[in-house]
Order: sequence, then structure tokens, then C-alpha cells
Amino acid sequence: VEAYAQELKAALHQYPNFPEKGVLFEDFLPIFRCPILFQKLIDAFKMHLEEKFPSGQIDYIVGLESRGFLFGPSLALALGVGFAPVRKAGKLPGELVQAVYQKEYGTDVFEMQREAIPANSNVVIVDDIIATGGSALAAGELVKQVGANVLEYCFVMELDFLKGREKLSSPIFTLLNAQQESLKK
Ligand code: PRP
Ligand code: MG
Repeated sequence: VEAYAQELKAALHQYPNFPEKGVLFEDFLPIFRCPILFQKLIDAFKMHLEEKFPSGQIDYIVGLESRGFLFGPSLALALGVGFAPVRKAGKLPGELVQAVYQKEYGTDVFEMQREAIPANSNVVIVDDIIATGGSALAAGELVKQVGANVLEYCFVMELDFLKGREKLSSPIFTLLNAQQESLKK
């Protein structure tokens, strides 16, 4: 896992002052341009999860819109488990569960279909990045609302200075500890 992580980290592209002045944006999209790196991203998460949760303990991968959709379904397929999407409000049909979360300006709402995951399932929540942890916390609430359990949160990167992990009660795995610092002085 560590060897793969080093290689993946080298593929990240840094954009200073995006999306606003003083922020160093770590873009992980270059990983998806190269099938060998994309495969390594999936394999690294798979190796970690199969070691930590052996013999089919994981029932579902839950991915967060939008960037959690880039690799969540591929990881689910590699693990041989189901995938359930958490979407921004207003996109999903049927009976839904909802959770409100804090964004930089105001609040936003995440939704999941109630039938997406059976009660008592064991779930791993995946996303590209944990910043304040608000998105991940809301996704965890959705999983709990359908009666399922969060085994772990998995992220590609963590903005550790925002202390998002303090909001989450389940374990957290971060593949690339690109513990980027804010450019703001
Ligand atoms: C970004 C990122 C995470 C979230 C992390 O998503 O992809 O999902 O923010 O922030 P937090 O830990 O402070 O909640 P964003 O909502 O910008 O949308 P996107 O994935 O659709 O680009
Ligand atoms: Mg996102």
C-alpha cells in the first residue's frame, strides 16, 4: 500500500490559488488519465480494506457525489460488493433519507435512497478528500438512518489542518497523507 501511495502521490498536480487565493489545490484527476495508476489507486484501497476487514465483512461501498463517484464504483466492483451513491439533494427518486451539512457558505443537503442499503449492512464510505469533515459526517448519518453500520471512512487525501477527522466517530483511512498546508499566512 505504501509503495503504491508514493507513486500515486507523485501523480498529483498542484494548483496554487485555486479555488481561491491562498489555497493550494491538490488535483487527483491525473491518476485517472493513466490506467496503470487508476488500477493502483483501486488496488491500494482494496489491499487495505481486505486486510483490515477480511472474509467478506464489507457489504457496500458508499460514494459521495461528485468526486467519490470517480473511484467508488470501481472499488466496489474490485471488492465484489455493492455500490450506493450519496447525492446532492433533488437528484434521486423514491423514498430518501436526508442529512444537512455545513458548506463554506450556508448549508447543503445530501440524500440516499432508503432501499440502497439493507439494514445491518456494513459499509465503507469513500470520497476524494476530507476537509472540514461535514460531507463525510452527513454521509455517515445517512448510512445510520437506514440502519447500517459505518466500518470505516476512506479518503484519498486529508486536509489535516482542518481537523475534519475529529467530527467522525468511525475509523478513518487516508491513502495519501498529502497533508497539505494552506498557503494563507
Ligand atoms: C469536496 C470534496 C469532498 C468535500 C470535502 O466536494 O470532494 O467531497 O468537499 O469537504 P468537507 O470535508 O469540508 O465536507 P464538493 O462539495 O466541493 O463537491 P464535488 O465533489 O462535487 O466537487
Ligand atoms: Mg466532493
